[in-house]
Amino acid sequence: MHDVSIQASSAEDGFYDDLSSAARALVNGEPDPIANMANIAALIWQYVPNLNWAGFYRVIEGELVLGPFQGKTACIRIAMGKGVCGTAVETGTTQRVADVHAFPGHIACDADSRSELVVPVFVDGVVIAVLDLDSPTANRFTQDDEDGFVKLIGKIANSLG
Ligand code: SME
Repeated sequence: MHDVSIQASSAEDGFYDDLSSAARALVNGEPDPIANMANIAALIWQYVPNLNWAGFYRVIEGELVLGPFQGKTACIRIAMGKGVCGTAVETGTTQRVADVHAFPGHIACDADSRSELVVPVFVDGVVIAVLDLDSPTANRFTQDDEDGFVKLIGKIANSLG
């Protein structure tokens, strides 16, 4: 068990600074990327409100393979360029989708999902995984959320690949 102290409740109050500090502390000194993804998924699940899925897909031999996560059982393999996750990998860009029903090719692993944020994980300039967050609320993720998670992932990316 790790002690994690997160007091802030909004981006303005430094929530993502606190979450990033906790994430860095969790991966510090641990070389195993799966163990680190597991703890980061659990950290996000515990502290970020209004999610129904939080976890990782890893890029393995040209496709995305389910990694450590919290939430309901999910699709195991996603082809490159497919769905929100495959699009994030193929384009190397964060995908913030306000309404997944309006995203062409969205893959509905959990029918409850209404909005989604997918952040590519770069190691040495290559996308090795994505962080995928789903919410049952449409338009759940703000620009502050996107910026916060992009920064967080940037700080720990080398511990995830
Ligand atoms: N909705 C994702 C698939 C993964 S699940 O949300 C866990 C997508 O369209 O890529």
